[in-house]
Amino acid sequence: MVSAAAQLGVFAACVVLFVPMGLAGWHLSRNKVLFFSGALFLSLAVGVHLSPYLPSLPHLLLLSSSSSRLLPLPSSFSSSCVPLLHRVSWSDSSAGIIGGGGRSWSWPPSIASTCGLARVSKDDASVLLNGSWVMVAGDSQARLLVLALLRLLLDPAAAAAVEPELFRRHSDYRAAVPARGISVDFVWAPFESNLTRLLREDLRLAPRAPDVLVVGSGLWHMLHVGDARSYGDGLGSIADAARSLRSPLPVPPPHMFWLGLPRLVNHMLNTDAKRARMNDTMVRDYDLEVEQRGLLQRDGGPFLLLDVGKLSRGCGQQCTADGMHYDGDVYDAVLHIMLNALVIESQQRI
Ligand SMILES: *[C@@H]1O[C@H](CO)[C@@H](O)[C@H](O)[C@H]1NC(C)=O
Ligand SMILES: *[C@@H]1O[C@H](CO)[C@@H](O)[C@H](O)[C@H]1NC(C)=O
Ligand SMILES: *[C@@H]1O[C@H](CO)[C@@H](O)[C@H](O)[C@H]1NC(C)=O
Repeated sequence: MVSAAAQLGVFAACVVLFVPMGLAGWHLSRNKVLFFSGALFLSLAVGVHLSPYLPSLPHLLLLSSSSSRLLPLPSSFSSSCVPLLHRVSWSDSSAGIIGGGGRSWSWPPSIASTCGLARVSKDDASVLLNGSWVMVAGDSQARLLVLALLRLLLDPAAAAAVEPELFRRHSDYRAAVPARGISVDFVWAPFESNLTRLLREDLRLAPRAPDVLVVGSGLWHMLHVGDARSYGDGLGSIADAARSLRSPLPVPPPHMFWLGLPRLVNHMLNTDAKRARMNDTMVRDYDLEVEQRGLLQRDGGPFLLLDVGKLSRGCGQQCTADGMHYDGDVYDAVLHIMLNALVIESQQRI
């Protein structure tokens, strides 16, 4: 009974959402595109949290979308859009008005409109992640992604207030957006073994899995071990652990992302040891291991790559002060790529 009532509610929501979208047709003006993406987020919120408990949701969604012929079916464009997520272009922000000399990123309009990609507003993000548990585990790159997420979800004063705690060296951090039931965990896990342990032990024992799980590592291994093969072995273990996390749980598996290595600007690195051990050759070898160890979705693995390397190269040398950590714009791009990927993934899941 409960489920039937919920289905009715979902159906009503679909009608409200999709019928106007169908009427709007495919020649969408900017406002309609915004509306369209807003609708995607709403259906995602349904998709992430309710679809496992509502077996006939996919049917309802399909029914409502196919009834409006002008509306592109999410599943028909989504998979071809995943490879386009990282096609962002960078330009110098208009100095003068705001005075910032930074770089800004955007999706080319053609990709944005074809795939419904859009920068996610604070409100959309909190609807999208309503009731979700987001876990980001790794090194300082992961921490910078958490900062970008909190800057999106919290108001500026609250976001500034979390920074001292978040950036306390080598420690975990937890933040919450109580009004939306969102919790965000940063787990300090700089080595591959730390991530494997997190996936294999800590999360297996947890009462529920995170809804979104972002992990990444490599910089510490490069600095302290410096052997790509051994890094690759560590990646293999992470991939296995992530796969086993996915299978036996009664709840849906997390959406999993791999946070790639940034571009390293060797001469800017801030210690002799880093300059001696961390260079483009090493990054290439390490990246090759990421591609060869069955980690990524495109190779049948569990993780979708968040290509920090590509984005940091795109933003360029002027976006880093220490050759390794980049300005907020880079992690902002990573974040919005991830949120848009979540929309696409959820459409595919249902
Ligand atoms: C967000 O989640 C709460 C319960 O956690 C629910 O009451 C509320 O309706 C949800 N809001 C949206 C917009 O989904
Ligand atoms: C991460 O792994 C390293 C090497 O295995 C270990 O020394 C360290 O204590 C671990 N750190 C955490 C936070 O678990
Ligand atoms: C890069 O670093 C590795 C060791 O960490 C070193 O063997 C190699 O010579 C370096 N390559 C370049 C081009 O500097």
